[in-house]
Amino acid sequence: MTDTLHLDQRQRAMLAEMGVRVWSPLSETPVMDAAVVEIEQPHGFVAAGELATQAIADAIKPAPILIQRPDGIDQMDWSTLHTTVSGCQACSLCSSRQHTVFGVGAPAADGQAPQVDWLIVGETPGEEEDLQGKPFVGQVGQLLDNMLGAMKLSRTGARTAEGGGVYIANVLKCRPPGNRNPKPEEVAQCLPYLERQVALLKPKMIVAMGRFAVQALLRDSVPELEGTPYGKLRGRVYQYQNVPVVVTYHPAYVLRNLSEKAKVWADLCLAMAHLKGSE
Ligand code: URA
Repeated sequence: MTDTLHLDQRQRAMLAEMGVRVWSPLSETPVMDAAVVEIEQPHGFVAAGELATQAIADAIKPAPILIQRPDGIDQMDWSTLHTTVSGCQACSLCSSRQHTVFGVGAPAADGQAPQVDWLIVGETPGEEEDLQGKPFVGQVGQLLDNMLGAMKLSRTGARTAEGGGVYIANVLKCRPPGNRNPKPEEVAQCLPYLERQVALLKPKMIVAMGRFAVQALLRDSVPELEGTPYGKLRGRVYQYQNVPVVVTYHPAYVLRNLSEKAKVWADLCLAMAHLKGSE
């Protein structure tokens, strides 16, 4: 299939990555204005019609404009922080997300952080979370809800005189496409939001679920963190911003390894006992 397009250097590079050759009808040298585009498919066919048109359209989509995070996140109030996250364009994940996923939890006064004893920190939104703009939905969310239920907590229950109150947030507020692992630069861009959430929520206990959550929270306080097998990080109480942190398995992992449920329960019991002992 051929088409005449006006392509800049970046668009040409992207097309080349996709196996799309761009050449001038009058010379062999690529030109910067009108050009003929030929698409090579993996099996040697030349793409035509809608498929090719879509491939070109995808390739020449403008790159996201990356806008720096605003300064002063560490001074923001809850609603400003929420609004800032909703409009964040500090990394390329903003171009593929449907929704940002700020978090969910106990009811709160207008614009205020909810009052909670517990903060659950997961890793990144998945496909469903991205669609709904809420953390931990679907089967994984159901398992998390069951864990909270066993602790006599719930994701939206208010803190009472006996304590309780939960907030659930992730390290990344946007879904990495295809549920790939987050990149270090994405974590670096997003982490100040979680830091501020912790500062405003002032939880009494953080439960870190999954390696990326643990790395984000404990990388400054636990030596050799990256080289330590995940299971060996369990069973101790760490600190993040002066808040105790307990490490447990991510519910998605538990769904694939049901025999690990008992270990998660042991971790949650450790967290509950620590919280009770510190009151
Ligand atoms: N896994 C997470 O870590 N967070 C979610 O919100 C969903 C799945």
